[in-house]
Amino acid sequence: MDTLHLSADPDGLRLAAQLLQDGALVAFPTETVYGLGADASDDTAVARIYQAKGRPSFNPLIVHVADLEQARDYAVFSPEAERLAQAFWPGALTLILPLKPGAALSSLVTAGLPDVAIRIPQSPVARDLLRAFGGALAAPSANASGRVSPTTAAHVLDAQGGGLGGRIEAVLDGGPCAVGLESTILRPGEDGRDGHSARILRPGGIPVEAIEAALGHPLMSEAPVAADAPAAPGQLASHYAPGAALRMDATTVRADEILLGFGARSGQDAALINLSPAGDLLEAAANLFDMLRRMDEAAQRSGAAIAVAPVPDRGLGRAINDRLRRAAAPRPSGDDAPA
Ligand code: TXA
Ligand code: MG
Repeated sequence: MDTLHLSADPDGLRLAAQLLQDGALVAFPTETVYGLGADASDDTAVARIYQAKGRPSFNPLIVHVADLEQARDYAVFSPEAERLAQAFWPGALTLILPLKPGAALSSLVTAGLPDVAIRIPQSPVARDLLRAFGGALAAPSANASGRVSPTTAAHVLDAQGGGLGGRIEAVLDGGPCAVGLESTILRPGEDGRDGHSARILRPGGIPVEAIEAALGHPLMSEAPVAADAPAAPGQLASHYAPGAALRMDATTVRADEILLGFGARSGQDAALINLSPAGDLLEAAANLFDMLRRMDEAAQRSGAAIAVAPVPDRGLGRAINDRLRRAAAPRPSGDDAPA
């Protein structure tokens, strides 16, 4: 596909918002880095983010909103979260907050977690786009997986240099990013409980010292829990454990199992539900977290285990299998459980 290069004038903003409403991917400037935006309520649009980036895992995404009132539609604010929002929004601070029940968000955005990462960007172009779009935009940095975050529209377009030209519908050009460094990610503490201060998950555009000064106490850091823990906070293995046992690559269903199907090959008619009867990986990714939740509920009600049909390990299938592998891994329990 040809990636449109839109200027940040009224026409460009209108077209960018229209494309997003139609489920397209539009890269847009924030003050930190360019984000790869999609309608955060649209499962298929969000699945396409992972496809365009070639991300091998479903790392949860930051939700971008225009103002605090809108943020309250998606997240529950404790008094400490409220203080941080007042002090640093709009700006380069992302807060990890409890997901508001019934929030209109694709479960792929939170990767099925009970928390949502949310921020109000300061860039005027980003805020104009959010207002024109009228909803929340899910946006990781607009680079191919494993490549450097882009801070100009040219970086976004430069496919050789790790950009996404040819893989997304448009980039909205707002010039170079003022901060040029991703947002600081913070999980606010539980108010009124000693020792439960805010934790820093990723250093970034807002210095830790500024946050400590605003809160009046020091921050703690959310240490990796496993020796092989990935750097990305949302990827901690403990975040991904369903209640029921899960078995991947199931070509047969045992008596004590219920089957989550994929595709139309023989045996799939035994499936309770199917990630994609047509064998479409984009559709399967869009369905994954909701269907895993439904399978887990059904399995726990009946004391069964979950079997999942083989999913091809290419394209979005790699991210799906990564998620399933985590779900199938032995659970830490008791004293071994991560905090
Ligand atoms: O400055 C930024 O933060 C840029 C601009 C576009 O806003 N975005 C960005 O997104 O850097 P990304 O996807 O590259 O990094 C987001 C980080 C990931 O490490 C992810 O694991 C973490 O945020 N994250 C998102 N949701 C989370 C959640 N519910 N719990 C824990 N971590 C979360
Ligand atoms: Mg990134």
